[in-house]
Amino acid sequence: MLDVVEALRREMEAERIATEDEVETFRIKYLGQKSGSITNLFKKIREVAPEDRRAFGQQLNALKQATEARLDESRDILRRAAAEAETQTIDLTLPGRRPLTGSVHPLTQTRDDIVRIFERYGFSVADGPEIEDDWHNFTALNFPPDHPARDMQDTLFVEASEGGEGGVLLRTHTSPVQIRVMKDQAPPIRVLAPGRVYRNETISYKSYCLFHQVEGLYVDEGVTFADLKYLLHAFAKAFFGEDVRMRFRPSFFPFTEPSAEVDIWWSDENLPGGGRWLEILGCGMVDPNVLKAVDIDPEKYTGYAFGMGVERPAMLRYGIDDIRVFYENDIRFLEQF
Ligand code: PHE
Repeated sequence: MLDVVEALRREMEAERIATEDEVETFRIKYLGQKSGSITNLFKKIREVAPEDRRAFGQQLNALKQATEARLDESRDILRRAAAEAETQTIDLTLPGRRPLTGSVHPLTQTRDDIVRIFERYGFSVADGPEIEDDWHNFTALNFPPDHPARDMQDTLFVEASEGGEGGVLLRTHTSPVQIRVMKDQAPPIRVLAPGRVYRNETISYKSYCLFHQVEGLYVDEGVTFADLKYLLHAFAKAFFGEDVRMRFRPSFFPFTEPSAEVDIWWSDENLPGGGRWLEILGCGMVDPNVLKAVDIDPEKYTGYAFGMGVERPAMLRYGIDDIRVFYENDIRFLEQF
């Protein structure tokens, strides 16, 4: 009979108890009032030989206690697990998971910053097509037919021209928007034209077949070069910082007279001289021939115009040394902005 108790103990110890239901099944199986295995053995105590009864009783009592201890322990483990699960689901101090959102392209950010600065000075935004005709892109801007000035900008043609004029092309600069606005509106005119332009350039770390410009145009009575200098200096201070150094360098554009290019000083201790001058824009007083082409009286009105690239300032600002990354849409690059 002692063997029977021993076998039952081993069976009891091998039971797996992982749920509340299993706790109850276990209890009924071993300690159930009617037919629990241990309960049944107690009933058989009279069948045991009198001299063995004492040992049998002790053995059976020990098994009963071990079984009850196992029950208590299992209930305990389950209760603790439940409490833990509960606190986990209601931990309001955990930080939330952020949904993935896109970011604004660095060129768009730079363009918007440029536009915002000029808006403070009363400029509003104008728009024009990227597919232009020769007249708006060149002729009205005082490029003579067959003049080498047209070669200054390596034009991508949509429809070839015959003999230098006519033809449809991808605009090589945002200056044709000047023509469209002046044909449309009477002075005073004060507009900004941000947009994409195209040139047939050899692609490298510093040039690409498309890039972005922001054009500015102001036409009114009595506009002077001094006004232009003031505005561009104010812009440079707002964009590059109060202590920016800038210079106007005489230059040539068919559509402005006089013309200038503007450089800013870029400090770089790795360079001999501690930095270098970087060109950021072209500008000048609107040529009288341009005003005539759009039926504005050059005796009454004067104006200034400027055009700046967006890529160069964006590269300076973000420390980017290869222009091509702007157009590759590599998510690892874009994610950083
Ligand atoms: N359109 C010129 C360029 O692309 C820049 C410019 C604009 C110069 C307006 C003068 C006035 O280089």
